[in-house]
Amino acid sequence: MNRVITYGTFDLLHYGHINLLRAAKQKGDYLIVGLSTDEFNLNQKGKKSYFPYEKRKQLLEAIRYVDLVIPEDNWAQKQTDVEKYTIDTFVIGDDWAGKFDFLATETGIEVIYLPRTPEVSTTQIKADLTNMSEDISKDF
Ligand code: CTP
Repeated sequence: MNRVITYGTFDLLHYGHINLLRAAKQKGDYLIVGLSTDEFNLNQKGKKSYFPYEKRKQLLEAIRYVDLVIPEDNWAQKQTDVEKYTIDTFVIGDDWAGKFDFLATETGIEVIYLPRTPEVSTTQIKADLTNMSEDISKDF
């Protein structure tokens, strides 16, 4: 059994996330998602998620490609997760290209960067919604 892991925030779940999760699952038989906690997002990644951790987790657990969701609360856990969850393959979008090559060197697992789905991101959705509501309020 090939066990795959990926990490991310997956806030305001969108089709770019679904494409990533589908492609990640196709790399193996069992997919684990390390889901960034609200504190990790705020303190380490500098972003505040709209949906809290438990809601983001519920959404991911409802997706057929996802077998297990675990919390991601620090940068260093990737190395320990490889052993803890007997991981074979690490997958992430290519906005992170090259950033996790050390995992292959240090642990021997395969590291794969998948092409991002163009033109959609949580940051973009938030910005677009803000602009839309500003445009609407100008009309009144
Ligand atoms: N992802 C993707 N295609 C997109 C958006 C995200 O493949 N259009 C992937 C990312 O590369 C990552 C995973 O989905 O592997 C989770 O990304 P995340 O940062 O949570 O999503 P974004 O929409 O990029 O959110 P943000 O704008 O807050 O960075």
